[in-house]
Amino acid sequence: MWPPRRGSALRWLRLRVCRRSTALVALLWLALWGLLDSLLFVHRTIFSDVCTDSGSKRILQHLCGEYRQGVLTGDLCEDLCVSGQLEYQRCLYYEKGKKVMEAKWRGTPVVLKSKLENFSSYEGFGPLEYQEAAELSPMDVVFYATLEIKNSLGLEVRNATVPRLWSQELQQRSQPYSRAELASLWTLLQQEEYIFFKALQDFSQHVAKVLGSCGHFYAVEHLVAGHAWNQDLFSLEDLLVPPKDEADGWAGGHGRSTERDMVNRVALSFLDMVSHFENDFSHHLHLCDIKPENFAIRKDLTVVAIDADMAFFEPKMRDILEQNCTHDDDCNFFDCVSKCDLKRNKCGTKRVNSNLQVICDKIFRRWFSPTLLGAGAGLPLQVELQHAVQECVETDGGEDAQHSVAIWRRLLAVLTRLLEDRPGRRAGRGNTRRQPHSALNF
Ligand SMILES: Nc1ncnc2c1ncn2[C@@H]1O[C@H](COP(=O)(O)OP(=O)(O)O)[C@@H](O)[C@H]1O
Ligand SMILES: [Mg+2]
Repeated sequence: MWPPRRGSALRWLRLRVCRRSTALVALLWLALWGLLDSLLFVHRTIFSDVCTDSGSKRILQHLCGEYRQGVLTGDLCEDLCVSGQLEYQRCLYYEKGKKVMEAKWRGTPVVLKSKLENFSSYEGFGPLEYQEAAELSPMDVVFYATLEIKNSLGLEVRNATVPRLWSQELQQRSQPYSRAELASLWTLLQQEEYIFFKALQDFSQHVAKVLGSCGHFYAVEHLVAGHAWNQDLFSLEDLLVPPKDEADGWAGGHGRSTERDMVNRVALSFLDMVSHFENDFSHHLHLCDIKPENFAIRKDLTVVAIDADMAFFEPKMRDILEQNCTHDDDCNFFDCVSKCDLKRNKCGTKRVNSNLQVICDKIFRRWFSPTLLGAGAGLPLQVELQHAVQECVETDGGEDAQHSVAIWRRLLAVLTRLLEDRPGRRAGRGNTRRQPHSALNF
């Protein structure tokens, strides 16, 4: 019995070894496959958000391809896709599909923006699914567009001056819109920031100017944007011009200003913006994402909001803040904060902090800190400014409006005096509440 037994044992052993190695190979293969897959996933997640020239150019080529096919249109398409007068320069930002690129338009730098990368990623214009574009009168288009604007801004468009003017612009059109025009307008109307910029164009110097569009991309003026990593927050040296330029009637005229003066003037423009957003519209405008990167400076040192994704008029702000809560921390919506009513377990709809308070905290405090001011930090006016900024940071703006106004005035007065007191000053007096720019535009 030995030999056959030995033979079958050997066969059994060989079979087991064979099965085990097959299982091992399969396991190895699976592990390798899994590893490759996760490597690919990591690569995709890391690099899909990277701002590359090749990626950006590919997006613009695709845009132009669709323009040539008649899918989309816009007043900038010809320059971007045919004459080459709108030229890609570099990618500025790319996150979760949001594209921000720098381009040169007829020699002037501009910024191209779109919330989503592809035209087809936006929802189509509903009525075009069962109607020909020609069947829609311009009045129909105004109706649909107004609804969209109203939803986005959270305003009764009928009563609000701002979107009414824009509607009038659309109404002036007599001939019907083409399919490409409607589809393009629709992609733009799905971008809250575009609606916000467009609606405030003629009313506010503190929002980026929209220069035109092609498909789902819109162009805004290119300005000196803020950076968290820059100690001064904005590269103001880029705005310093040699004195010869002053003679050309150039708006800023701060060719001989020191950078410290420029910072003071930009701070005055921040104050002007705060007052403007608080008082000049039918509803208070709240900025809920205040950081240097979301503001930029024009040549005349005006502060401009360049990222309006988190800008809300009071009615929408109230809707956003009204959340269930168990403590105050549940009522923080980025920079817009309310308090938890513990009896109702609901956040208050009124914001308790203010635009000014957050600007003081995130911008002024860094500019006017003793470390940054260096040797000048001990001068009486600088000390006064530091105290005013500290008081501003510590005072909730939403609850005691009068106190807020007093802080705003105190900051305005100190900054204006600082500008007046500098040697060889040419600034006018800028001490009235609505005219901080008399100190800005001299
Ligand atoms: N008009 C502009 N001029 C100069 N740089 C800009 C402009 N708009 C945007 N940028 C740059 O692109 C960045 C991203 O744009 P932003 O609108 O803030 O995008 P996001 O909403 O994703 O933060 C900004 O932080 C800024 O550096
Ligand atoms: Mg931003």
